[in-house]
This record gives sequence, C-alpha cells and structure tokens, in this order.
Amino acid sequence: MNKEPINNLIKSAIKAYHNAYAPYSKFSVGAAVLDENGSIYNGCNVENAAYPSGSCAEEQAIGNMIANGGKLIREIVIIGISDKLITPCGACRQRIREFSDKDTIIHIHHIEQGLQQSFKLDELLPYSFGPENL
Ligand code: THU
Repeated sequence: MNKEPINNLIKSAIKAYHNAYAPYSKFSVGAAVLDENGSIYNGCNVENAAYPSGSCAEEQAIGNMIANGGKLIREIVIIGISDKLITPCGACRQRIREFSDKDTIIHIHHIEQGLQQSFKLDELLPYSFGPENL
C-alpha cells in the first residue's frame, strides 16, 4: 500500500510527538487519526511514575476522536524515532479495531525519515474480535 497520509495528519502527529510525556522510557510517540469527516485528532504517550498507569499515543488520539464526535478511523499515523517500526502494541491494535473498517490504514512514520510502512488492520490483527462478533 503506497498511499501517503495527508500532510496535516503527519503535522498533527509530529506536534503531539513533541508534547509526549515519556520521562521513564524516553521513547516519545505521537499519533494522529483521520475520521470519516476528514477531522484530525492527535495524541501522545503519557507515562506515569506508577508505570502501568501510562497510556499510548494511539489510545489518546482515539479517545480524543470519540470525545469530539468522530466514529470511524479512516487513517492513523504513528510517529517516533526508532530503527525498528513503531507498530501499535497489542492493546492499541484492539483499540484501533473497535473503530475501523476494512479500508482503515495504519501508517508508521519516522519523524526524520518519513513514511516507513503502511498496513491494513487485518495485517496487524488477523481474525480480530470486534463489535460484530458479539
Ligand atoms: N508507545 C506508544 O505510545 N505507542 C506505540 O505504538 C508503542 C509504544 C509508548 C508506550 C510507552 O510510553 C513507550 O512508548 C515505550 O513503550
């Protein structure tokens, strides 16, 4: 899949990246979601001295979408600095799943090197369990 995310989505993820609160891991992550109406919502990881209370960038961005009335993730950009891909953790794959359809795209971006890889949710979470399975 070669579709580049729109510039404003990347910019929004970069902005969130710079505001990430990651004093413990020192691994900042930014995310931005594009919803069904073309609105953009961002989020960053927010760590905590009680480590398990920290949250992921994707989690914050999705929560922000829901709080503002968005219903569907058309695209999500995840941005950071790493030699390896910053693919969403297992819990965040499931969070993305809740608000995705078969066309949802997950873009993994390096803040300096640009787009690294794009995925359909099915590639990251095959045979997933979602609202229709209940
Ligand atoms: N993290 C994210 O926010 N998103 C990801 O996709 C991978 C990991 C955060 C969680 C934690 O604050 C830090 O990165 C190191 O795991």
